[in-house]
Formats: sequence, C-alpha cells, structure tokens
Amino acid sequence: MKILVTGGLGFIGTNFIRYWLNNHPTDQIINLDKITYAANPHNLDDLKSNYLFVQGDILDSVLLDQILPGCDLIVHFAAESHVDRSIDDPLLFVKTNVLGTYTLLSAAKKHGNIRFHHISTDEVFGSIPFGSNTEFSESTPYDPSSPYSASKASSDHFVRSFGKTYGLPITITNCSNNYGPYQYPEKLVPRMITNLIDHQKIPVYGQGENFRDWLYVTDHCSAIEAVITKGKIGETYCIGGLKETCRNIDLVNLVINLMGKSSDQIEFVADRPAHDNYAVSWQKINQDLGWQPKETLESGLRKTIDWYLNNESWWRQAKTEAEEFYKKLNNYQNLKK
Ligand code: NAD
Ligand code: DAU
Repeated sequence: MKILVTGGLGFIGTNFIRYWLNNHPTDQIINLDKITYAANPHNLDDLKSNYLFVQGDILDSVLLDQILPGCDLIVHFAAESHVDRSIDDPLLFVKTNVLGTYTLLSAAKKHGNIRFHHISTDEVFGSIPFGSNTEFSESTPYDPSSPYSASKASSDHFVRSFGKTYGLPITITNCSNNYGPYQYPEKLVPRMITNLIDHQKIPVYGQGENFRDWLYVTDHCSAIEAVITKGKIGETYCIGGLKETCRNIDLVNLVINLMGKSSDQIEFVADRPAHDNYAVSWQKINQDLGWQPKETLESGLRKTIDWYLNNESWWRQAKTEAEEFYKKLNNYQNLKK
C-alpha cells in the first residue's frame, strides 16, 4: 500500500510513521509537511527505505496533483494544533485546518476517490460540565469552544460531506489529549517536564480543576491502525486512553512525584478563555474493532519523562521559542485588560 501522510514531522505524525513502517514494512509512505514551528525537520532522518519526505503545503493543489497519483490512502494529521495559538491568531487555523482539509479532500476525489482517514479531536464536542459524569461519544452534538476546535469541527463536517456527496471513502477519529515523545514543548505535558528539568515553575491555568482524558501516542497510533485496517467506511470512532478523567492539578502532581520534585514548583496563573473539560468514551472502537490502550497514565508518563530527559538536544531550541510565544501572549493579554 502507498500512503500519503500529512503533517508527519509533527508530534503524532512522526510517531505514526515510525509505528506504521515498523508494523507494515512493505508499505510506502510519502510524508507531506510544510515544516511550521511545530515540526522538527530531523525527526525521521533515520528512515532509509519506503519513505519519502516532501516539503509542502496541503493548500497547494498543484503539488497534490504531483504526489497523489498511485496513493491508496491519505492519513491526514497536518493542522495548526494549539488552542492558545488559536486564541492569538484564529485566521491561520481557518486556513490550515478548514481550507487545507478541503483542498486535500478535493484532491483525493480528483485522483480516484482515495481512501481518506481524518485525524480529529474530542474538542469538537465542547465541554463536559464540572460535576457531571457524562462522556463524549460518536453521537455527541458538536459544540466547539475555541477557534482551534471550531476549525477542526468544520474540517470534520467537510470530510463527512465528501463521503456523503461524492462517495469518498472516509473515516474519522476524534481522540483525546496525546502525550509522549516528540511533542512540541508548548503543550502541558512536555512543558511541565522540561520546566521541571530546568528548575522552573509549572504554570497551571486557573486552579487546575479542568479535566481531560490522556492517551499515550503509541496507543493512538494503534487505534488509527485498527480503524484503517478494520474500520467501517463512513464511520467515526472516538479514542481515549483512560477509564476515568484526570484533573490537570492531579496530572501535574503525578509528574512532579515521578520526577522526584516538590509541589512548590506549581504556580497558579490566569485561566485560559473558554477553558473546557473533556472525557471520551472509547466503547465503540473497543467493541467493534477490539482496540484498547496498552499504557496506563503512569507507565506512559514514565516513558515520556525518560524520553525528554534523554533528548534535550531535540527540545532545547523549541522550548525557548515556545516560552517566547507564551511571553508574547501574556503581554498581549495584559494590554487588552
Ligand atoms: P503538531 O502541531 O505537533 O504537528 C502538526 C504538523 O502539521 C507539523 O509538522 C506542521 O509542520 C504540519 N503542518 C501544519 N500546517 C501544514 C500545512 N499547511 N501543510 C502541511 N503541513 C502542515 O500536531 P499534533 O499534535 O501532531 O496533531 C496532529 C493532528 O492530530 C492534528 O490534526 C490535531 O488536530 C490532531 N489531534 C491532536 C491531539 C493532541 O493531543 N496532540 C489530540 C487530538 C487530535
Ligand atoms: O483533547 C485533544 C486536544 O488536546 C487536541 O485536539 C489539541 O491539539 C491538543 O493541543 C490538546 O489540547 P489542550 O488544550 O487540552 O492541550 P494543552 O496541552 O494546551 O493543555 C492541556 C490542559 O492543561 C488544558 O486544560 C490547559 C492546561 N494548561 C496548559 C498549559 C500549556 C495549563 O494549565 N498550563 C499550561 O502551561
């Protein structure tokens, strides 16, 4: 099989390409990535066979016409992925996540209705109220809160519409928060690990009461594999990693304990606007496709902490840039007050 992966130099895309070629060594992968701030161009330098990297934009339909012929499957990761950046610059999210996905769908249709697997997020469903035991599932109505989740919701609608209108063979996965190796250190888990390595405080938004489901990235990759190989065309599958959600403050304390640090390292800071809560039911993918996560939160965090401890050269420059972004965001928010 020949697969076009988009966004394969980002966090999940990098892990997915490694996972896929390990488990399907005769398949071929073309990795199309624009190399934004979130990509590391050297992530996959060691891949020698059955792998081709193309630097480019998913909005470039001429380039897509050159690389899509012969592809059997598109796995679409490329996106602007950070909620805080979408609050700062929403238009970029409309361009990449909505127009970019539309451009890719049109190209998939043009080149013989190529199978299209779309990677989406649980954030499209909105927020679980505090104190409620409910969970998002495939039938939860869309109610996005941030410009990021609104752009992902829109992209999901376009993917489904191409399935219904043009018969494009699509599948969608909506997953919870991923963590693991190669994650850009703007996101909570790598930000706190690298702050602790640097003896810096961990900024916790609000009182840390917001909660999420956490999914180790390799478990996400195996879930995508299950949907690609066994999923039903036209269907959506929700993916989560835990049976119960975790409050941010509990996650932060767990990482602090695993790294042998003290809770004095926590600093409560201003809350994120429209800060929401997520909990995902992964019953459907479990029952229909037999998938379940392998890692517990603790085992996944141990692997992740070890990776960041052993790969400082990978994250050092990115961390400087990520903290510059946060400084700019704070200055901007202070100016607006
Ligand atoms: P990331 O930000 O780490 O990587 C995104 C990649 O896409 C980067 O390599 C970037 O260069 C590339 N890219 C961005 N714009 C592009 C464009 N116009 N053309 C080509 N490439 C472009 O993101 P991630 O965390 O790996 O997320 C991957 C996908 O998974 C996204 O669609 C995201 O919405 C979704 N998702 C992520 C999470 C999570 O917890 N990280 C959870 C649910 C869903
Ligand atoms: O749920 C899936 C989503 O998870 C994905 O669609 C997004 O691409 C991904 O970025 C992630 O979004 P979140 O907003 O949940 O992730 P983030 O790591 O930014 O924040 C996780 C939680 O931690 C959130 O409640 C905000 C809080 N937070 C975050 C940062 C960066 C802090 O308290 N302090 C921080 O410094």
